[in-house]
Amino acid sequence: MRIIVVKDTEEMGKKAADLIAEEMKKKTSFVMGLATGSTPLSLYKDFIRRNKAGEMDFSTVTTFNLDEYVGLEPAHDQSYRYFMDENLFDHVNILKENTHVPNGMAEDIDASCQEYEKMIDEIGGIDYQVLGIGGNGHIGFNEPGSSLGSLTRIKTLTDETISANARFFEKKEDVPTQAITMGIGTTMKAKKVVLLANGANKADAVKAALEGPIASICPASALQLHRFVTYVITEDCAAQLTLNHETV
Ligand code: F6R
Repeated sequence: MRIIVVKDTEEMGKKAADLIAEEMKKKTSFVMGLATGSTPLSLYKDFIRRNKAGEMDFSTVTTFNLDEYVGLEPAHDQSYRYFMDENLFDHVNILKENTHVPNGMAEDIDASCQEYEKMIDEIGGIDYQVLGIGGNGHIGFNEPGSSLGSLTRIKTLTDETISANARFFEKKEDVPTQAITMGIGTTMKAKKVVLLANGANKADAVKAALEGPIASICPASALQLHRFVTYVITEDCAAQLTLNHETV
């Protein structure tokens, strides 16, 4: 595992964009796995800057988002589809039909989850998966206790995650209690993974993921088995690590 420690959130986004841009140069079409939340915002800003500067072309990029709330329309301002349009897709030359977010409004959720997984497999898999991490070690909406081999499916959110996400809603009761998420097994199939984390409040989760045992209590710890994972984390987030790491 490669651990890159950067000084702040802006550097975190730039460094992750560098890693992905380097990989994009090797391929004529590229499949990205994307996350929502506060963490990847600096990465998406850097993608937009590079796209506008003519340094990064999204016309042959296909994306698959990690997760979506069950019961929120794509037009709802807290849906992850809305988030992605607002923070990335509407600002780069990507074809909207090549952007995929799980369908939280599907009549048959199980079938739509299987279809999502199949679409990823049929396109040849994800070239680069972007991840954030929850304070409890979750990746996507794979909460502690999730099967480390899990694929895309519906999950009930923990109270901790509902409380953490309540900041985006008017009140906690408005936060959906279920979500569709790619599984940990889906993430493990990605060719490369970059996990971003910033802030002291993520330091415990990052320590457990990198230096703790591989265990479903910390879903991100499964990445210890991945062949190509890079953590790009801020100094405050790396404060508890004993492993050697690169400092940028
Ligand atoms: C969202 C996702 C989540 C977040 C995590 C951290 O698509 O995959 O696992 O990455 O909850 O959220 P932030 O970045 O808001 O701290």
